[in-house]
Amino acid sequence: MWLYLIIMRGCDLSRRGDNVNRKLLAALGGAVLALSLAACGGEGAGGDTDTSGQDPKDLTIGVSMPTQTSERWIADGNSVKEKLEGKGYKVDLQYAGDDIPTQSQQVDQMITQGADVLIIAAIDGTALSGQLQAAADKKIPVIAYDRLIRDSKNVDFYVSFDNYKVGVAQANALLTGLGLQTKDGAKGDKTGPFNIELFAGSLDDNNAHFFFDGAMDTLKPFIDNKSLVVKSGQTNIEKVAILRWQQETAQKRMEDLLTSTYNDGSKVNGVLSPYDGLSRGIITALQNAGYGTAANPIPVVTGQDAEIASVKLINDGVQSSTIFKDTRLLAEQAVIAAEAFLKKQAPQANDTKTYDNGVKVVPSYLLPVVTVYKDDIKKELIDSGYYTAEEVAAGQAK
Ligand code: BGC
Repeated sequence: MWLYLIIMRGCDLSRRGDNVNRKLLAALGGAVLALSLAACGGEGAGGDTDTSGQDPKDLTIGVSMPTQTSERWIADGNSVKEKLEGKGYKVDLQYAGDDIPTQSQQVDQMITQGADVLIIAAIDGTALSGQLQAAADKKIPVIAYDRLIRDSKNVDFYVSFDNYKVGVAQANALLTGLGLQTKDGAKGDKTGPFNIELFAGSLDDNNAHFFFDGAMDTLKPFIDNKSLVVKSGQTNIEKVAILRWQQETAQKRMEDLLTSTYNDGSKVNGVLSPYDGLSRGIITALQNAGYGTAANPIPVVTGQDAEIASVKLINDGVQSSTIFKDTRLLAEQAVIAAEAFLKKQAPQANDTKTYDNGVKVVPSYLLPVVTVYKDDIKKELIDSGYYTAEEVAAGQAK
């Protein structure tokens, strides 16, 4: 009986979503939260009809991905589709070309065409509330894929990586590249001061904030003790963010920084970049300005996603590092969660505290991340079958 009361109270709290209540709900813990999810009518855990005994070939999973301009989303889309089709499900995979109205329309269509579960990597984390309400009205469970969907109670589960730790890893890679720290976090043999510049992702992507927070918390002591100097003075996420994660915008900002801040003969020594596409834009700007020679070495530039073009740059000693997030594992978790919903079960979360989307704490499954420097390419990316040695050498995946 007490369990029933907690579950029903949990439904009530998560629907009302006020702050204190959300905290209380989070405190109820994983198991009860999972049960409460399964018991809450209208907020997720299962479609209109009982799909649990249905043949997978009669069930369709809608998969909405943001863009094909970045390799990682192509890999994500392909992995999710392959894995679901391997289990016999029908898959409706759509890419939205980084255009918010296109993504809304694609999700609308998935709903009207009778999707049984939705897996969505949002372009703008706050722009899909209408679609999610329509999904909830039809009791279609929604899984937020890698990017949290915000401001909606109708997000049932979140699969991602530990995004704060991505930022910490990027900052540590910057410190290691500069020699202020060793790979295992011990004091390095250099003391600085080093000039650095900071970049962040798109402000409408919840992840961009987690990456930046993790990085800044890690860099702060070094900025405070002056071994790192952000010479432009631009340390605010609003100032350093790159809309839609566009490579060209990052290149332009780096060019502007070079002319505005480094026209006095001073040099940039390091750049915090949150994504490989941005890193390549930043590197192009630096190379065009004469960096990349023995007398004028390329700064330490970080990254994320282990995109093949950047892995080649790391192998060639141009980019310093990237953060590898194995999209095969993420796709697997999304499929596990989708199947749980189809069987009327709550997917297993490993984090029920961190991802408050503004209305509720979304139960999440977070995967670990790996920092890749040149020496790690073989073990992490080639031996694991993510790329072949030939692909790394060519800088192009087949
Ligand atoms: C993802 C990153 C990716 C970025 C740009 C973020 O939401 O978590 O892996 O680099 O989007 O596509």
